[in-house]
Amino acid sequence: MAQDPLIEKFRRAGQAQVFAFVDALPGEARQGLIAEAAEIDLAEVDRLNRTLVAAGATAGVNLEGLAPAPYEKRPEHGGDAGAWARAKAAGEAALRAGRVAAFTVAGGQGTRLGYDGPKGTFRVTPVRQKSLFQVFAEKIRAAGVRYGRPLHWFIMTSHANHGATEAFFDANGFFGLDRARVHFIRQGRMPAVDFSGKILLETKGSIALSPDGHGGSLRALERSGALDLMRREGVDTLSYFQVDNPLVRCVDPAFIGWHLLRGAEMSAKMVPKAYAEERVGHFCTQAGRTVVIEYSDLPMAMQRATDGSGRLRYLAGSIAIHVLDREFVRRMARGEQALPFHRADKRIPTIDAAGASVKPEKANGVKFEMFVFDAMPFAENPVVIETLRADDFSPVKNADGVDSPKTCRDDQLRQFARWLRANGAMVAADATGLPHLALEIAPSFGYDEDSFAEAWQQLAAKPSLTDGLYLS
Ligand code: UD1
Repeated sequence: MAQDPLIEKFRRAGQAQVFAFVDALPGEARQGLIAEAAEIDLAEVDRLNRTLVAAGATAGVNLEGLAPAPYEKRPEHGGDAGAWARAKAAGEAALRAGRVAAFTVAGGQGTRLGYDGPKGTFRVTPVRQKSLFQVFAEKIRAAGVRYGRPLHWFIMTSHANHGATEAFFDANGFFGLDRARVHFIRQGRMPAVDFSGKILLETKGSIALSPDGHGGSLRALERSGALDLMRREGVDTLSYFQVDNPLVRCVDPAFIGWHLLRGAEMSAKMVPKAYAEERVGHFCTQAGRTVVIEYSDLPMAMQRATDGSGRLRYLAGSIAIHVLDREFVRRMARGEQALPFHRADKRIPTIDAAGASVKPEKANGVKFEMFVFDAMPFAENPVVIETLRADDFSPVKNADGVDSPKTCRDDQLRQFARWLRANGAMVAADATGLPHLALEIAPSFGYDEDSFAEAWQQLAAKPSLTDGLYLS
């Protein structure tokens, strides 16, 4: 058989091992391997090998000239209340004009949680046990009703969870959303390499490919046609959040307004870090640009440094909530200004030279990922605003301990109790605000403090607060 030109290209790139077993594969498997190989940009892999993998590769995080980034403080912490009110009005106007779409990145593998299935299908709410996807769907639907314009919702999946994610929405009637406005877009994949830069096989007929990181969302939005669809629909602003955080306001008018009034291309929410070692990214400035430095890249001495008053110097923690301008995403996706890749050394199931499977005990190779926050330094006029953790952030990441289903459930309960108390209801709670009884407020009733207050005030007869109360 004539040699496939693709196989020849791999051979010339020093990656012939990818096809070591190709002649022994049945026809269909052979085509499968070739299709996977065709996804790979060999020039990109070569560049990453030279800059990130090769012995002595220097591409690390540059900490030169780093300083804490400024941010817009909440009014209750000394921020300008008038400016916050103007931002909220501008965001509401954009929502009423249909300029905003929601965007969830849900392509991660969720390994730390130890849950089998797309993370968005994980059940999190205290009474009804709603899934993460259901919580977001109901919030997005409620916002659409409130502003008179149903929102488009883009959900980024991975190859591994795309089918299961679609099937979940289908089985649940898209949670009452118009299915023509829910769009699943699949993120790209990157090959893993060994420590000498050779692309690893997972089996004789498949390459060790893994999702290209949430930074891959910019490319995925462009490649899938989502940006064109947005343009046709008059949507120019994306409200971006992660799948693991049910407290998030999927669309937050004040945040959107800050972004639009500043003419920002990308914006971010921060919370003051709870403690020095908290595992979040840090908003910083460098050479006049806003950058995010991961906890793993910022030396511990800097993470612990304090100012004169004993406050953490690098206080602004990233909770991975952004607003993105559509044309900025397009510019980044087209690669004129490309996101960098990060190296992660991992245990990668593979095969040996004889084709026998190997389950390594320690890291045997490198995965490459892009992070969406690396787009911040390329954005014009970026804004970082403060948010209250209790209103926006309680992720489910670990099976127990911090950021677990338990802490997330408690934070939801605290939020519901707080909304009730703010409107005159008596809710008994412990010193942390955790109510003594389980209750749940459906987003269709109230999906944030304002919408809840309006709905509650309109109730002629207030329900009695009993265990298991569900307000919808
Ligand atoms: C992330 C951020 C961290 C931030 C924290 C807040 C990184 C490297 N760090 O940490 O700065 O403070 O969240 O919670 O992101 N995802 C994809 N495709 C991928 C990889 C991830 O869609 O290829 C999605 C996941 O589904 C999830 C989100 O991105 O929604 C975050 O991924 P994860 O790897 O859990 O990030 P963290 O390390 O927890």
